[in-house]
Amino acid sequence: MTTDEQSHVLIIGASGGVGKALVEHYLNQDWRVTAWSRNPIEVTHDALSCVQVQGYQPAQISDALAELDDVQGVISTLGVLHNDDFMPEKQLDAVNAEQLQASFQVNAILPILLLQQLLPKLPRKQPAFWVQLSAKVGSITDNYLGGWYSYRASKAALNMLLKTASVELGRSHKKLVIAAIHPGTTDTQLSKPFQERLPQDKLYSPAKSASRIAAVIADLTTDDSGKLLHWDGTELPY
Ligand SMILES: NC(=O)c1ccc[n+]([C@@H]2O[C@H](COP(=O)([O-])OP(=O)(O)OC[C@H]3O[C@@H](n4cnc5c(N)ncnc54)[C@H](OP(=O)(O)O)[C@@H]3O)[C@@H](O)[C@H]2O)c1
Repeated sequence: MTTDEQSHVLIIGASGGVGKALVEHYLNQDWRVTAWSRNPIEVTHDALSCVQVQGYQPAQISDALAELDDVQGVISTLGVLHNDDFMPEKQLDAVNAEQLQASFQVNAILPILLLQQLLPKLPRKQPAFWVQLSAKVGSITDNYLGGWYSYRASKAALNMLLKTASVELGRSHKKLVIAAIHPGTTDTQLSKPFQERLPQDKLYSPAKSASRIAAVIADLTTDDSGKLLHWDGTELPY
């Protein structure tokens, strides 16, 4: 996407492994970057504006939203697989309401509310993108291993929410592409507990994943809107 002005991207969840690498990637590509995070972001640059938010509920982002200039694109990295309270469920016995609710909240509910809130900041008639990082394990068709109930189901819900929004917004924002991108297994705190049995060549650095995600974004067309895309740009089945 090219414009006369310096392109401006908003990265949400910018203190995370992939989020921080995306901030650095876009700054290196001469984009203006706004970074939202609940935590301080340890990157400084003339083209970077960091905004610390309390959380990502509509009421918690209202000040950040009011400060935000129009953007060409938004990338939300929000996602939770495990935290201090839970690990992904290995079997049905482990499924519980708290984990399901917490996973749906971060992986599906907050992302669609963010899209709702941020839509006025995205151009109606110019090319623009709204990308949420998703996961291949959220593909229902591709689920051969089972397990990880909450994560899988909440990412599948995310994919449906984005697909539904893409149908509606395809009418009002004809050049806006809404996409879910699977970053591949990346060396961050999210994947840390599951890295042991992974071949080293299947674990990617955050910088590598960020540059692949940005390459997929650079090639997005309106035909891609509503799709779940692999980091290599191919379409994954829902
Ligand atoms: N790493 C992988 O192997 C892998 C594989 C497939 C898909 N993904 C997806 O890629 C995305 C980025 O993952 P990552 O590896 O960079 O993970 P990460 O380092 O844990 O970052 C996740 C981000 O989500 C936000 N977040 C986490 N819990 C939250 C909560 N309770 N409330 C609000 N925000 C919360 C955080 O934003 P703050 O900056 O505000 O803290 C954080 O920056 C996720 O959507 C993940 O599902 C990752």
